[in-house]
Amino acid sequence: MNSDDQDSTTSDAMAGALPTRRRAIKTFGGLAVAAFVPGAMRAAWGEQQGGSNPVFTLGVASGDPGSDRVVLWTRLAPDPLNGGGLNDRAARIDWEVAIDPAMTRTVRRGTTTSTARNGHAVSVHVTGLRPDSWYYYRFSHRGVQSRIGRTRTFPAAGVLPARMRFAFCSCQHYEQGYYAAYRDMATQDLDFVVHVGDYIYEYAASANVPAARRHQGGEIATLADYRNRYALYRLDRHLQDTHAAFPFIVTFDDHEVDNNYAGLIPEDEQTAEAFRQRRRNAYQVYRESMPLRANVQASGDGLNLYRRLPYGRLADILVLDTRQYRSDQPCDDGLQFLQTCPAILSPDATMLGATQEAWLFDQLRQSRATWNVLAQQVMMMRWDLGALTGQPLNYYNVDAWDGYQAQRDRILRFLAEQRVANPVVLTGDIHSAWAADLKADFNGASSPVIGAEFVCTSISSGFGDSNDPLVKATLPSNPHIRYFDGLLRGYSICTVTPGAWRTDFRAVQRVADPVFTVPSADLPVSDVAAFNLIAGQAGLTRVL
Ligand SMILES: [Fe+2]
Repeated sequence: MNSDDQDSTTSDAMAGALPTRRRAIKTFGGLAVAAFVPGAMRAAWGEQQGGSNPVFTLGVASGDPGSDRVVLWTRLAPDPLNGGGLNDRAARIDWEVAIDPAMTRTVRRGTTTSTARNGHAVSVHVTGLRPDSWYYYRFSHRGVQSRIGRTRTFPAAGVLPARMRFAFCSCQHYEQGYYAAYRDMATQDLDFVVHVGDYIYEYAASANVPAARRHQGGEIATLADYRNRYALYRLDRHLQDTHAAFPFIVTFDDHEVDNNYAGLIPEDEQTAEAFRQRRRNAYQVYRESMPLRANVQASGDGLNLYRRLPYGRLADILVLDTRQYRSDQPCDDGLQFLQTCPAILSPDATMLGATQEAWLFDQLRQSRATWNVLAQQVMMMRWDLGALTGQPLNYYNVDAWDGYQAQRDRILRFLAEQRVANPVVLTGDIHSAWAADLKADFNGASSPVIGAEFVCTSISSGFGDSNDPLVKATLPSNPHIRYFDGLLRGYSICTVTPGAWRTDFRAVQRVADPVFTVPSADLPVSDVAAFNLIAGQAGLTRVL
């Protein structure tokens, strides 16, 4: 593993790789005080409370919608940056779901219990809901109410909905920028949000960023560390607003645990047992912090995160896990020449592990959906940087699928041979915006296009402006890559109908890395590029 990637101001894949190459939160001794401030905390839908709510400081969230169900999330955390602030006693939390934003027509209600063992976070698995419908929800604890959240169920199985519209995003390094992208996303007309990883970063506090946007302490490893780090990110009002506005479908990448880890192999030299425990801590807090389906559960050292979410007959969303089961990156990670690193082509190298690969093929074989969506982490397209060397060499980023080519090629061949309908791969990780035609064989000029890949850029994590022209110099030798921009932070919106798919890249006003020169969440956000796909006709068309 590459252990010299300490520069958190450049992207995961590019760091050191290219050639030349408290907030003040009121602290309460206990929750008794909460009983004296009830009415003041009653909120209307959409009203942000943030740190002003003495108990629900981290807001509310929902996720993993089905046609009759959704998961609701919150956490009792009167002192969110210092372990939460509750004692070891279990706490009662009431919840309610209504069909109107004023919460007057309640359709479900119940009580759940938070425990110290789960950091006083709760996930409520609400069932018996109507398909394809908006709902509103809130929690209360000892007279204090949370803000009101909004969520939405998916269409029923067998129904072909007229439209699905969602945002997808990744990589929100807290120290590297404000969440203007989330400010914009929260106001969009969306059914849900897909987050493909790097929801937090595990790094120590940097000395070179404004104190208002700084991590706390050293690199995180314990349960308490991970809880405090998620709390720091969740205190951001724009992230809270977006969670309150839409259900999320999430998966993790590396930074939810440790930069560029692979399976149980860490980035740095730690003992195997130490990393095993650290990863277990990270997975537990991820499970606690996200609105995940009941069947996403820890088992042994792992967390079974990969899952399928069908959006009626319009789309099957297959959420992948490309970190937990992968073999080590070939040749110590980073950028590697194929000519000196034949392990890039090893048939034994695996990104998904054998079980997940078999599951993926089963799902794709059984799918009757118009669009088959793979929501995952690292770039699946071939990206050969050999042009930068001036020699006839193949040069790959081996943390991405280019380091696991045998398995990547099995998947692309499967999509072609099984004639899987309209595959679309959604990717994060690399902090830059890309669109590519996926081919069964990237080496064959006449090999047919079998699907498309979109890489949202990062919410806030930097790419390094100086890397932008270097990447552009590699594009002529990668003609299937149809779009790249390394200067943008933002996210993407996908508008999907039975006949067509459109991806819009939305970007925050161009800003300089490593830290926004205008450190503001008020920066304008606009459309910068868009691509269309026609159902049944592989190949991207640029429309903006
Ligand atoms: Fe990232």
